[in-house]
Amino acid sequence: SYVVTDNCIKCKYTDCVEVCPVDCFHEGPNFLVIDPEECIDCTLCEPECPAEAIYSEDDLPPEMEQFLQLNAELAQQWPLITEKKDPPPDAEDWNGVPDKLQYLER
Ligand code: SF4
Ligand code: F3S
Repeated sequence: SYVVTDNCIKCKYTDCVEVCPVDCFHEGPNFLVIDPEECIDCTLCEPECPAEAIYSEDDLPPEMEQFLQLNAELAQQWPLITEKKDPPPDAEDWNGVPDKLQYLER
C-alpha cells in the first residue's frame, strides 16, 4: 500500500484525498493516514501531495519505516476524509521541517 509519512504532520494539505478512488484516507488533528487494507496501489495520491509525504511501501525510506505501522493503526481509529479542506494557516512554515513525529496529535 501507500503510506503517509513525517512531512504531512502539521502541513495536512489534503490534496491527496480527492484523487483516491477507494476512499483510503483517515483524518486526525494534524496528520492524515492511509488505510492499508483499502489502498489498491493506484499511485494517484503520491504526486498530489505538496509536501511529498506519500510513498509506496516499496520505496519507503528506512527512517520512515515506523509510519507503516502508524498508518495501519491510526486508520482504524480516525474518521474517513474524502474532501479537500483548508490546510492549517501555518502549514507552509512546517513544510520540510524534519522529525515532526514528536508533534503528532492523536
Ligand atoms: Fe488511494 Fe491510490 Fe493513494 Fe492508495 S495509492 S491511497 S488507492 S490514491
Ligand atoms: Fe498530508 Fe500531503 Fe495529503 S501533506 S494531507 S499527505 S496532500
